[in-house]
Amino acid sequence: MRAVDIIIKKRDRLELNREEIEFFINGYAQGDIPDYQAAAWAMAVLLNGMTPRETTDLTLAIAHSGEMLDLSGVVPIAVDKHSTGGVGDKTTLVVEPLVAACGLPVGKMSGRGLGFSGGTLDKMESIPGYRTNLSTQEFLDQLRTHGLVLTGQTGELAPADGKLYALRDVTGTVQSIPLIASSVMSKKIASGAQAIVLDVKVGVGAFMPTLEEARQLAELMVSIARMAGRKAVALISDMDQPLGQAVGNALEVKEAIETLHGNGPQDFVEHCLVVATHLLVLGGKADGESQARAMAEKALRNGNAWERFRTLVQTQGGDVAYIDHPDRLPKATLIEAVTAQRSGYLKMVDARIIGETSVLLGAGRAKKEDAIDHAVGILVHSKVGDRVVAGQMLFTVHANNEGRLREALRLLHGAVQYSDRPVEPLPLFYDVIR
Ligand code: URA
Repeated sequence: MRAVDIIIKKRDRLELNREEIEFFINGYAQGDIPDYQAAAWAMAVLLNGMTPRETTDLTLAIAHSGEMLDLSGVVPIAVDKHSTGGVGDKTTLVVEPLVAACGLPVGKMSGRGLGFSGGTLDKMESIPGYRTNLSTQEFLDQLRTHGLVLTGQTGELAPADGKLYALRDVTGTVQSIPLIASSVMSKKIASGAQAIVLDVKVGVGAFMPTLEEARQLAELMVSIARMAGRKAVALISDMDQPLGQAVGNALEVKEAIETLHGNGPQDFVEHCLVVATHLLVLGGKADGESQARAMAEKALRNGNAWERFRTLVQTQGGDVAYIDHPDRLPKATLIEAVTAQRSGYLKMVDARIIGETSVLLGAGRAKKEDAIDHAVGILVHSKVGDRVVAGQMLFTVHANNEGRLREALRLLHGAVQYSDRPVEPLPLFYDVIR
């Protein structure tokens, strides 16, 4: 078999068989197929697409390029959640301890932020001492003894994805539904997940800008899970505006802690309860959604979810003094408000602009190796549909650099649009794909 023939076949819109896909992915992972051929192939896939069967074969080939975790002897059912990435999305920090408090063990390997979208590991590292680099053995031991792990992906899991993703990032081939679906699902399958709740974001602050594309991605990921013998549900959720109020690492940890104490922003609390509900049903802890929802609400109300979060932080080496007293978490030196320039109803609170502004402040990174500033970020005080009056506070900017603060204040004025007529609030969810 030759790599060039596989590229030509995809260029000519023909369907690749499993052997061809495995040959290509293994060859690329092992360095036998060079970057330029993989780039040409990825572009052919982006332009000509793949069938669900091809995408499933691709997913499994990527998953099998490294270690495959088997959690069947560790937990009764291995559940996982995955968000396709957004702005202010700190859901994992609340949902993981919440479902663990309901008796459902969950071991999660998360990622870092890239571009305008934040990452769970960066958020957790705002807590001094918290380790995100557990070995596979530590992951398994902690899942067995504590039923709760939140760490980074080990280098041995789906290594072909790491290589391919870096290549896609610089060859204009990220925005391909089969390539995104196989990238996400290969990592979930390799990490041993048997039941997965997928949170597919749609809107200006997401990879998928339209509902149609988000639905296609969600349906494809659910069908890959089914063909690979796993259970999955995909929620399609809004990312036109940020989730909750906090955007930026330590600010988001504080908001997660407030939520675990029962004082979170209403949209974020609701989002977490819905995701937790689906996890509990999929993980077999509840007979139906109403029972699962009641369990989740109770675990949030009675403090059990908070206790599980505290144990998680302690177990992974974090200093709990910082979460017991969140005002000790990293704090910015410059704090300034952005106020409404006119009265009206908000019709846009642009998640993309807010995410990019947060990166400019230092909360995110433009390149994988960039350092980040955990203290900086933005608090979003008003949402789409809210009536605001001129001079009312819209955002609070937390910065550590005067020049960047000025630029952030300027950019954030462009993140809002006003209407003289009432505007409907945005829904939290658009659809559920089962
Ligand atoms: N997240 C991933 O893990 N892979 C993609 O291709 C896009 C988003």
